[in-house]
Amino acid sequence: TEIVFVSPDGTRYTVDAANGASAMEAAVRNDVPGIDADCGGACACATCHVYVDDAFAGALPEPEAMEEDMLDFAFDVRPNSRLSCQIRVNDAISGLVLHVPERQG
Ligand code: FES
Repeated sequence: TEIVFVSPDGTRYTVDAANGASAMEAAVRNDVPGIDADCGGACACATCHVYVDDAFAGALPEPEAMEEDMLDFAFDVRPNSRLSCQIRVNDAISGLVLHVPERQG
């Protein structure tokens, strides 16, 4: 399943993500810059913060309470902010575009 990460400078990284894995894992495996993922996906660091592209608003399930709480620790949180380790890859979100923030934490 294809996921596209966009850097603040506009560079696009199109990665092939395994279904069932998280978007964060796909980013780390493909060396997408700016996804630090310090906690390794435990929803405990907020350094895998991304902005979901407007075209995909509503395409993802609502964040769970744990993700909402941890997002409070992310830098420059916006309404479309998500933690990429909590985004489960599946065919339904193929082509998903995620914007990497200027900085993490
Ligand atoms: Fe730590 Fe997502 S990798 S919260």
